Amino acid sequence: MPFTMLGVETSCDETSAALVSETGDPSHPWRIHANVVASQVALHREWGGVVPELASRQHLRDICRVVEAAFTEAGLTLDDVGGVAVTEGPGLVGSLLVGVSFAKSLAFARGLPLVGVHHLAGHIESIVLEHGEMLLPAVVLVVSGGHTSLYRVDSPGSYVRLGRTRDDAAGEAFDKVAKLIGLGYPGGPAIDRLARQGHERAIRFPKLRLTHADRNAPDLPGTLDFSFSGLKTAVLRHVTARVVALGLEGPGALPEGECADIAASFQWAVVDTLVDRLMQAAAAEGAASLGIAGGVSANSRLRSLATERAGAAGLPLSIPSLALSTDNAAMIAAAGLRRLRAGHVSGWDLNAHATLAL
Ligand code: KG4
Ligand code: ZN
Repeated sequence: MPFTMLGVETSCDETSAALVSETGDPSHPWRIHANVVASQVALHREWGGVVPELASRQHLRDICRVVEAAFTEAGLTLDDVGGVAVTEGPGLVGSLLVGVSFAKSLAFARGLPLVGVHHLAGHIESIVLEHGEMLLPAVVLVVSGGHTSLYRVDSPGSYVRLGRTRDDAAGEAFDKVAKLIGLGYPGGPAIDRLARQGHERAIRFPKLRLTHADRNAPDLPGTLDFSFSGLKTAVLRHVTARVVALGLEGPGALPEGECADIAASFQWAVVDTLVDRLMQAAAAEGAASLGIAGGVSANSRLRSLATERAGAAGLPLSIPSLALSTDNAAMIAAAGLRRLRAGHVSGWDLNAHATLAL
């Protein structure tokens, strides 16, 4: 049996467990035996977003059966496991604690190495897990509900941040705009679907302009940072003006065609910005390849535009399939294998961190 890692992920509203083993092939280092995800979307939909207290309680209810399901699906037992990797942050601290406590207990009881993993390292390694090692240096866009960041990967497992959002994450903007025009939670997939019926040039929402200095870092020329709060406000203003102009009771009464145009135009503004920054970073860093990971990389327009622009620049682009784009434990197991092989083992004092530097 090749070395096999149990991965555990509970950073937000998905309880996930996976079994991933080493292949021995340096270009395609890992293989997934099972990747079980219990989504809490139905639980949180009623509230229009993730309720942290409900999320951690549901993780507690689900964690054991999800881990058992992963073993059943893989046809493996605990005796086949060589180590336990778990997301230690960033995320909802109560949710993270469930996974961290579970992983620590199991690793301690079985005498296995425990490896704490940064959630975004997991997203980056999801690319390698599915498509094999990237040509280096690579520039990777991690775009999810909680993060929008660009990283340069110079060597396997080393991640240098080139830029990040100064306010909302792209996925958060998708979720908020979806809520505004009466689409359900999570908003990203709903906007993606509705946008197909709209015109993406119907409304010219403002494109990203970072003119103000960042409070936390100097505003360097050619910044690779993002900002989505201005766009969100522009959508709110547009919707409010249309509701008044049409004499409607609220945004929910906007004609469907108009909502589709808003969805398509908003999506275009986000996607165009994301791909612009990715290509800017690629040029500045002399990238040999590109990657996109995280929940928003499931967006069909982002996929098509990035594929087109990377193709035009002659750069290979890797995006994981939908199952590996959104939160899952297979990517955590993979990043854990990477860390373990680099000599990192966590102590029994491993803790959950709401914020954590990569
Ligand atoms: O990576 P992820 O599963 O969780 C975090 O680490 O945040 O990302 C979830 C985010 C949500 O904001 C969701 O609306 C967004 O990914 N998302 C999408 C799509 N599918 C999921 N956004 C745009 N288009 C999609 N198709
Ligand atoms: Zn994520």
